[in-house]
Amino acid sequence: MPLSYAEFKSKVSTLVGIDLFLYKSQQMDRRIHSLMTLWGLKSYEEYLEVLTNNPVRFQEFLKKLTINVSEFFRNPERYMDLWETILPELLKERPRIKIWSAGCSNGAEPYSVAIILNELSALSRATLLGTDLDATVLAKARAGVYAENEIRSLPPELVEKYFREDRGYYHLSDYILKAVTFKKHNLLVDRFEHDFDLIICRNVVIYFTEEAKNELYKKFYRSLRPGGYFWVGGTEPLLNYKALGFENTISSFYKKIETVEGE
Ligand SMILES: C[S@@+](CC[C@H](N)C(=O)[O-])C[C@H]1O[C@@H](n2cnc3c(N)ncnc32)[C@H](O)[C@@H]1O
Repeated sequence: MPLSYAEFKSKVSTLVGIDLFLYKSQQMDRRIHSLMTLWGLKSYEEYLEVLTNNPVRFQEFLKKLTINVSEFFRNPERYMDLWETILPELLKERPRIKIWSAGCSNGAEPYSVAIILNELSALSRATLLGTDLDATVLAKARAGVYAENEIRSLPPELVEKYFREDRGYYHLSDYILKAVTFKKHNLLVDRFEHDFDLIICRNVVIYFTEEAKNELYKKFYRSLRPGGYFWVGGTEPLLNYKALGFENTISSFYKKIETVEGE
């Protein structure tokens, strides 16, 4: 019997280490099938064979799912809001702050925050956690070596100050590397820690079903301390933020209302 699409998807999930059934099926299916057409493959068996035995095609496949793309200071204007408004406010209120980059990919996101905190002379007052379900990107995050296109949005003086260039690759300073703890964590399955002052989850939920997204937002809400911020990607505003218990102070930043009883 030929391999069905569902069987193929399940085998590919194992191969890439990500449960593709938890993602919006239309988008995911479109991406998966577009490569099948491009490579002229006639069956799911053939597709699976290519993905298993051809590392170049396998990388292309991962890239097509656009699951891991990240860079330092992605959407620089939002990072300036973080630098000038959000972090100074949080640091004024508390002696220590706790930050979580959820779906942190190669680490560029939590490291960007660490760099800003260091610029604010407050890195020693912060706990930074970066999580992702993909062990491969976490290994890259821990190594802290980046290609030029991953640091292109960083101001040149910060590149100069925090990286060492070697044959076209940029090695992040040790003390920024040490400031972030990375853990494997599946947002749709695993337990959440609490008392965060800032939770960052950008360009991750775009692939999730509406139900999965709503459940996740409720869990993030519970994981924040009152007055803490939830930071989302530019293309994924929270339409029901009031019902969830947030106020929207600055574009893409949602503040957990301080006076909610029982939280
Ligand atoms: C496009 S990257 C975004 C990286 C970073 N947040 C940014 O905006 O640059 C999405 C990341 O979400 C991760 N991811 C996807 N589903 C996840 C899940 N269920 N739990 C944890 N991480 C997930 C992927 O492995 C990937 O590294």
